[in-house]
Amino acid sequence: MNDPHGRPGMTAESPTDFQGQSHADTLTRMLGPDMVLSGDAVLPYCRDWHGDVQSSALAVLRPRDTAEVQACVRAAVALDLQIVPQGGNTGLVLGAVPDSPARQVVITLERMARIRSLDAENFSAVIEAGAVLEQVKDAVAGAGLYFPLTLGAQGSCQIGGNVSTNAGGVNVLRYGMTRDLVLGLEVVLPDGELFEGLSQLRKDNSGLDLKQLFIGAEGTLGIITAVSVKLLPAPDQVATAVVALSRLEDVIELYRRARRDCCDLMSAFEFMPPLAIDLAKEAMPDLPIPLEATYPAYALIEIAGSGLVDIGDLMHRFLEAAFESGLAVDGVVAQSQAQARNLWAIREGMNLGQAQRGRHLRTDVSVPLSRLADFVAEAEAAITARMPGCICVSYGHVGDGNVHLNVLPDFAQDPASVDAQILMAKKIVNEVLDRYNGSISAEHGIGRLKKADFDDRLPAVRRQLLARVKTALDPKMTMNPGCQVNLS
Ligand code: FAD
Ligand code: LAC
Ligand code: ZN
Repeated sequence: MNDPHGRPGMTAESPTDFQGQSHADTLTRMLGPDMVLSGDAVLPYCRDWHGDVQSSALAVLRPRDTAEVQACVRAAVALDLQIVPQGGNTGLVLGAVPDSPARQVVITLERMARIRSLDAENFSAVIEAGAVLEQVKDAVAGAGLYFPLTLGAQGSCQIGGNVSTNAGGVNVLRYGMTRDLVLGLEVVLPDGELFEGLSQLRKDNSGLDLKQLFIGAEGTLGIITAVSVKLLPAPDQVATAVVALSRLEDVIELYRRARRDCCDLMSAFEFMPPLAIDLAKEAMPDLPIPLEATYPAYALIEIAGSGLVDIGDLMHRFLEAAFESGLAVDGVVAQSQAQARNLWAIREGMNLGQAQRGRHLRTDVSVPLSRLADFVAEAEAAITARMPGCICVSYGHVGDGNVHLNVLPDFAQDPASVDAQILMAKKIVNEVLDRYNGSISAEHGIGRLKKADFDDRLPAVRRQLLARVKTALDPKMTMNPGCQVNLS
C-alpha cells in the first residue's frame, strides 16, 4: 500500500508478491513462527500515530531478547533486506514507518520490556529498549526514585525510541534531553555484532563516547536493545499552576523571572494559546477547565523538589510577585494531584484535539528564546495573510525556545486541497524560520517526513561527515535507509 497523501519516500511497492511472500517464509524458517508476522498482521506496525500514512512491510520481527535481535538482523542481512527498527511507534516524523515494503522488515522491540536492574544506591537503572516510558517511571517511583523524561506519548513510547529520537518533552529545561539522562547503551550493530556499552559510570572520559552516535540516530546505525539511565530522588513536593497573561512576550518575561526566582527548581514551563482549551475539550469533553474567562496566552508552570525546601511557598511567592507587577492577569494553583493532572491534561489533550480535527501541519521548531515571540508573531502573520482560512496553533516548551507552530488547514475547502495547504503552510513557516536561523527539528527528529527539508539545509561538510559515519557503521545500508539523510 502506498502513502495516500504522496508523502516523500513512501512508495507503492507491494510486499505481497511471490518474492515478498517467499522472504517472509524464509524468515519464518530461520527464526521460527513465533518471531515473524506477515501478511495483514504487519499493517498495524506500518501506520503512523496520526493515521496519516499506511504502508506495509515484508514482515514484522518480534525478538524477545538481545540474542534474538542479533539473529533477526543477521537473517535480514543474509536475505539482503533492510531493517526499520520500531519502538512504540509514536514518533511524529515517520521514522518507524517502512517506506519500501518490498524490501523492508520492521523489528519491533515490544517484547523486550524488562527492567534488568535498579540500583538505588547509584541512582541508576538498566532497562530493555522496549519498556514503555510510563512503566519505567512507575517502576522507579516504587523505589522512591524518579526518571524525569516526560512527554504526552509516555503511555506508549518506549525507552529505546526515546533514546533513538533523543526525545525532549516538558522537563528539558531542568533535566536536559534524553541524551542527558543516558549513562550507557547496548546496541546490535548492522552486521549483528553487539556493542556492549551498558556503563553505569557518571564520569568516563576514556576515549570517544561512542554511545552518543546512537542517541538521536533514529535507528539508522543500529538497534538499541538496552539503556542504562540516570535516576534522581523522587520529588516529594510538586506545585503546578496555570497563569493567564496578555501576550506571548509576557509569558517569556514570566519565564525569565521564574528562572531567576525559583532556584533551579522549576521543572516545566509550557506555553498554550486559548485554542488549547477548546482542543483539549474536544478530545476530553469532561475535562474541568480551571479559569472561567478566556485569555490571550497561558503558561503552565511546575516547580518540584525533594527534601528541605518549601515548594508550595516558593510557588506562592513567585506568583504573588507576578500578579503584583501586573504581568500575570489570572491564574490557579492546583490544590491536589488530581487538579494538577487536569491542568496537564489540557496541555496533553490539545495534541489529540488537533489530530481529531484532521490532517494538519505539525512543526517542531526552535529559535533563541529572545526571538521566540517575534518569530511566532511573524510566522503566524505570514500564514494568516497568505492562507486566511487556516488556523495557527502555537504552543510548546518556552524555556527551550521550542514551539510547535501547527497549522490547521481550512477544512471548508475541497478536501483534496488539504495536502496543498499543508505544504504551503510549511513553506511559509520555514521561510520565516530560516530568517531566524532556527532549527526545523528541535525534538522530534528528521525521520522520513522532514528529510527533504533537512537535506535542503545541510552544509556540505556536515553531509560528508554524516555519510562517513553511516558508511563506517552500516556499509550495506541495512538500517532504516529511508530515514534522516540521503547519501546518494
Ligand atoms: P518510534 O516512533 O517507534 O521510533 C522513533 C524512531 O526511533 C524511528 O526512527 C525508529 O526507527 C527508531 N527506533 C525506535 N526504537 C528503536 C530502537 N530500540 N533502536 C533503534 N532505533 C529505534 N517527542 C518529543 O520529543 N517531545 C514531546 O513532547 C513529544 N510529545 C508527543 C506527544 C504525542 C501525543 C505524540 C504522539 C508524540 C510525541 N512525541 C514527542 C514524539 C514521540 O513520542 C517521541 O519521538 C518518542 O521518543 C518516540 O518513541 P517511540 O518508542 O514511539 O519510537
Ligand atoms: C508536544 C509534542 C507535540 O510537545 O512534542 O506536545
Ligand atoms: Zn514537544
